[in-house]
Amino acid sequence: MRIASNKLSDLYEFYKSELSSIYDSGELYAIFELVCEKFLGYSKSQVKSNFQEKINQSDLINIYNTGKELQKGIPVQYVLKEAFFYGLTFRVSPATLIPRPETEELVDLMIRELKKSALPKFQILDIGTGSGCIPVTLKKYLPEAAVTAIDVSEEALQIAKSNAIKHDTDIDFVLADILSTDICHLQTFNVIVSNPPYVLNSEATQMEERVVNHEPHLALFVEDNDPIIFYKRIVDLCTSCLESRGLLFFELNPMYAQPVKNYADAGNFFIFTEILNDMSGKQRFLKAQKK
Ligand SMILES: C[S@@+](CC[C@H](N)C(=O)[O-])C[C@H]1O[C@@H](n2cnc3c(N)ncnc32)[C@H](O)[C@@H]1O
Repeated sequence: MRIASNKLSDLYEFYKSELSSIYDSGELYAIFELVCEKFLGYSKSQVKSNFQEKINQSDLINIYNTGKELQKGIPVQYVLKEAFFYGLTFRVSPATLIPRPETEELVDLMIRELKKSALPKFQILDIGTGSGCIPVTLKKYLPEAAVTAIDVSEEALQIAKSNAIKHDTDIDFVLADILSTDICHLQTFNVIVSNPPYVLNSEATQMEERVVNHEPHLALFVEDNDPIIFYKRIVDLCTSCLESRGLLFFELNPMYAQPVKNYADAGNFFIFTEILNDMSGKQRFLKAQKK
């Protein structure tokens, strides 16, 4: 092991030497903080104030091995097997997308909207649940809601279920292919949300290698010849699955925000459809209410 001593500062020097070709200095320090939080239980300020402290041998080995994994370009969330989302910690694996800040914005928007809505008891459906970050967080903040979550990936659903248990939230998980299954034959909902796959195959070349090489393609990509396939299917399902006055929320690929809105408007069964921007000013969300 190439660590000068057992001091945290020397471990940080090791991280710099191993990872500075992959991460800029800000990212690298943020990753080091996450690693220290995981193995040492340190807050951010404790990482700084304990820089000259000696670390015990087993923590040292864990932090060293983590640095070696990170060196392979594996996202830190997969190496640590966890990601933060809306103040909660979620288990993740290479079968689940790493939850994104835009999705936290979507959940925040939903919680605010639903808290002031006149809908009776919420019956929420999340389509393409991945780690379960959307339904688990919604259930945490809206405990009276009945929440169902669907995914086509059995492995992702296992992770989502473990997150529901971890956060003590009762969620109904369903293994189904949304494109080929009529999911509404048993139940209807008054809130439907989805962050479906929305990256075009042709966009892969402009994306970070870390994402393309490690995150599940099933969660990310759609064919270039039908980029809004999931949105069209879910809008169509709303005719039977979404109750009158029910709300639909989408996370969008900003390039296709308008086509998704146009498709939803064409059916003429929503009172309104509205595109909303994310924090960086991109057209990222669609909100709609059924007549
Ligand atoms: C962009 S990810 C979103 C994951 C999670 N909701 C989040 O926001 O982090 C899309 C999810 O849709 C799932 N998915 C892909 N194709 C599907 C299909 N045909 N039916 C149901 N789920 C699908 C993927 O497995 C993946 O978990």
